[in-house]
Amino acid sequence: TDGKIYRASTTAPVNIAVIKYWGKRDPSLNLPTNSSLSVTLSQSDLRTHTTASCSSSFSTDSLLLNGSPQDVSGGRTQACFRELRSLRATLEHQDQSLPKLALLPLKLVSENNFPTAAGLASSAAGFAALVRAISDLYELPANPTELSKIARQGSGSACRSLFGGYVAWEKGTASDGSDSVAYEVAPASHWPSMRALILVVSAAKKGVSSTTGMQTTVKTSTLFPARAADVVPARMREMSYAIEKRDFETFGRITMRDSNSFHATCLDTYPPIFYMNDVSRAAIRAVEAINEAAGKIVAAYTFDAGPNAVIYYLQESHSVVAGRFQEILGGVEGWREDVPATGGEKVDER
Ligand code: PMV
Repeated sequence: TDGKIYRASTTAPVNIAVIKYWGKRDPSLNLPTNSSLSVTLSQSDLRTHTTASCSSSFSTDSLLLNGSPQDVSGGRTQACFRELRSLRATLEHQDQSLPKLALLPLKLVSENNFPTAAGLASSAAGFAALVRAISDLYELPANPTELSKIARQGSGSACRSLFGGYVAWEKGTASDGSDSVAYEVAPASHWPSMRALILVVSAAKKGVSSTTGMQTTVKTSTLFPARAADVVPARMREMSYAIEKRDFETFGRITMRDSNSFHATCLDTYPPIFYMNDVSRAAIRAVEAINEAAGKIVAAYTFDAGPNAVIYYLQESHSVVAGRFQEILGGVEGWREDVPATGGEKVDER
């Protein structure tokens, strides 16, 4: 390969869960204790852009995120590199005319256009983009489901960012993780009026990482076993049906209740974990007031491992939702409106 630089670029969007992943049954493979379901948001706004290149002229594997060098020696990143390299090595073995890229050092350059590690699913977009960029670089014939298995090992929620629209992550039962994959529940075009209002309450990094938080919740929360065993499986069925029927009231009710259930298990963790703050709670009260005034559920809040709110609503409710939120927007650092995204796309070829 003589110092030649091979390159591919891609973007991956964030996804915001309406049924939360919280709890690992296998922390090294990122196998979850429950299935989850999310909406992938539009690429234009919250996304990671990643260029993957490899060359014999590079000295080691490296990753630059928003201009700063990141440690790639961690188990998660290494697992993604290892799996993708092994798929490339198989291709090279089958077709001896292919350039030998699998053993070359990798250089990754990523840019997030939103705050990193502030509970806005940055790791989801990040690992989805990393895996797809390397897969494109290696010209792997892998489909999104196969790539989701690899991205999952980087960050659990990343497996859902390989699809657009409404996406489920099936927890699976196999101990090797072979059936713990993401799949599309419905494309974005199925429900064109869906909107998401993202309130950046704080762009600061979260206090407790999701990995540490989950582990402590699984070990100590007495509410957690019922959530994983009964509450979430029933909600997965009800939510899939609500999406199929475009039933916003059911979609919204489950979204809010599942966010509340997740944050309740956080509070029930010992020592307790608080991700929401006063502005988050003001956002909840604003949604309550909007729904009360409408006489039905027209807006639904959800919070990940941080204080930032995502409010789902339908286009026809835009004025009542955005209008009421004007009142609390003074307390937030930024906000934007987004739409569900179609599937990921290849930006350019090498
Ligand atoms: O993918 P992780 O390890 O960052 O975990 C994400 C967990 C939540 O965002 C809180 C919930 C979810 O399903 O995305």
